[in-house]
Amino acid sequence: MIFYFSGVGNSAWVTQVLAEQLGERLVKMADYADEQLDIQPDEKVGFVFPVYSWAPPKLVMDFIGRVKMSAPNYLYFVCTCGAEAGKTADIFCEAVTARGWQCHAGYSVVMPNTYVSFPGFGIDVDEVAARKIAAAKERLPQIVEQLKSQQHVFDCHEGPLARFKSYVIGSSFNKYQLTAEPFFTTDACTSCGRCAQTCPVHNISLADGRPEWSDHCTQCLACFHICPVNAIQYGKFTKGKKQYRISSYVSATLTSSLQVRGPR
Ligand SMILES: Cc1cc2nc3c(=O)[nH]c(=O)nc-3n(C[C@H](O)[C@H](O)[C@H](O)COP(=O)(O)O)c2cc1C
Repeated sequence: MIFYFSGVGNSAWVTQVLAEQLGERLVKMADYADEQLDIQPDEKVGFVFPVYSWAPPKLVMDFIGRVKMSAPNYLYFVCTCGAEAGKTADIFCEAVTARGWQCHAGYSVVMPNTYVSFPGFGIDVDEVAARKIAAAKERLPQIVEQLKSQQHVFDCHEGPLARFKSYVIGSSFNKYQLTAEPFFTTDACTSCGRCAQTCPVHNISLADGRPEWSDHCTQCLACFHICPVNAIQYGKFTKGKKQYRISSYVSATLTSSLQVRGPR
């Protein structure tokens, strides 16, 4: 079983690669409806998600707190990040331990950056993004082999000042920045509805053809990146910034194809 969350597609792609190699069934964390999940005694349980502000997204933390399942024999996570994961592993493991479970392995995989809603942050230039994807393609088979043999390995790139970034900036991010209020559309909006269809937490609806954001935004920025005419902006911070599309780098059907499936 793999529990996954992805905003812009990087973590969905990693999920897809892992699921294909490990033959796992998938559960979208954002769509989980509190049902009891049956974990087989020999079944591995994985979590795949992006790093937000050097920590697991709040949605993932909330999911760990409420998912109904028995203790897995082997539990792991794979997080994707633009550069560094900070104390994501510690924060994740602590949440899992609080449920009475154990986290046996954890990995970070560097992928193209999607964070653009702050001054100084933008997507990677093509060459850097392609290099990151190529490195991820090399790294994932090694991770798969280690997961297959249920190894106890933690291999996450924390980066410098990890404690400060994760616990001080990360906490402040969850407290003050999980708001959709700064989002707006420019006159370029064609009312295509892609933003509403794509939002992984169903936080966007259309009113008179224009997107309206509700109150449970995760800041994944899927709406910004997916808009075919770059009409979605986040305050002044995204003005003139380019969009990232994983489909420019890998051929995959990605998020829309990743649904909850029964055991194979
Ligand atoms: C709100 C937000 C915060 C982010 N924070 C970090 C971070 O702290 N460290 C990092 O290396 N990348 C960070 N990123 C980049 C993403 O973790 C990275 O691009 C990830 O692969 C995106 O996954 P997704 O496409 O599945 O949403 C952030 C992205 C967003 C949208």
